[in-house]
Amino acid sequence: MNEATDVLLLKLAAAAKENRVVDLYTLIGSMTLQVVGTTAFGVEFNTQELDSTDTKLGEEQQQTAQRLRDAVAFIFSVSVFNFSAYSPFIFLFPFMAPLLRVLAATFPDKGLLKMKRSREIIIEEVAALIRQRRLALNEEVNGEKQGGARGLREDTLGVRKGVAPGSFLDLLAFVLMLAGYETTAAALSFTLYLLAANPDKQQLLVDEVDSFGRDRKPSLEDLESLPFLDACLKEGLRLYPPAPTHIREAARDTEIGGYRVRKGQWLGCAVWSMHRNPKYWKDPERFLPERFIEGAAEHEEGVYKKWFPFGDGIRACIGARFALMEAKVTLVRMYQRFTFELEPGQVPLKIRNNITISPENGVLVRTIPRPATLQREP
Ligand code: HEM
Repeated sequence: MNEATDVLLLKLAAAAKENRVVDLYTLIGSMTLQVVGTTAFGVEFNTQELDSTDTKLGEEQQQTAQRLRDAVAFIFSVSVFNFSAYSPFIFLFPFMAPLLRVLAATFPDKGLLKMKRSREIIIEEVAALIRQRRLALNEEVNGEKQGGARGLREDTLGVRKGVAPGSFLDLLAFVLMLAGYETTAAALSFTLYLLAANPDKQQLLVDEVDSFGRDRKPSLEDLESLPFLDACLKEGLRLYPPAPTHIREAARDTEIGGYRVRKGQWLGCAVWSMHRNPKYWKDPERFLPERFIEGAAEHEEGVYKKWFPFGDGIRACIGARFALMEAKVTLVRMYQRFTFELEPGQVPLKIRNNITISPENGVLVRTIPRPATLQREP
């Protein structure tokens, strides 16, 4: 994680030197994809290297990184409501959903085929990278030293010649890649946008980071002692929950709030609306991280009863702690070296609402080096 952040910092330093505007969402997306590769699968996706003008990647590695990034980008660029001709009908006529799903599987249209192909590409590339890693490990083991495989080892996953559809790796690759990359990139980008749009809050965060130290990489325990950082991320997730609607399928016929619900129907829980509802929040449209700090009136009233960007119940996000840790490490290390000035015309930020929400045109900022930043290595 720290290595991936090093690359991000080098890119920001280069942009700062040239007084160049950067899109934080793109840079951070490449970083979080890289982090999923190393932490979940123990392989390098090299997605961050793609943006470098002096890339050290060979042609094959560049192609792999590009294919991965394009496939993931496609999945997040389409709207869940209309990426296929079947989708709007499933939402409009939920009682016909079982029939429509059979039809879609038998006669897939262009959108469905592209989605299927993107999914296959992700799985194929991840499996190929793991295979290469295994070969490299075998060489190391049979040679002099045992390599330290990080993350899940492929023999645990049973990878041999490919990945069977529906197999453990198939599912794992798809879920972890998609769940772990885009949501965290969006959460970080939205928080950075809010901080740049509210320089007084950005300064409070810089002060907290300085009191921690400008030359230290934060450990897990260190992150526990940065309450304003924690509050900024939580407030960012309140205003821009990357998964704005959580879906449940009714297990049986029932009634909720006076509405009849049939078994099999989908229900959407509108997190975005609840997170901005004046009934639950004071000044809901404002970025006020302080409300998440222990002792604040709103915190004491039970702030977590109405904040649920990671869902709730038995299907709640399993990656919440990991995502918060990754976001915190990244923010501390970014603010140790830089502050950010929003390019004009971005407030309010335009949002793309697909499976998750993301900044439609990125988050464009100028990177301002903090004193003595450019001379230092990350
Ligand atoms: C800021 C980042 C993230 C947000 C906002 C987020 C949000 C969510 C939400 C809302 C759900 C559905 C919960 C529900 O329906 O009640 C979910 C499920 C899930 N998330 Fe995350 N997530 C994030 C990061 C991650 C990461 C980093 C990983 C993996 C490393 C991950 C893995 C998963 C998985 C596997 C599920 C499915 C759990 C299940 O169905 O049992 N998420 N996430």
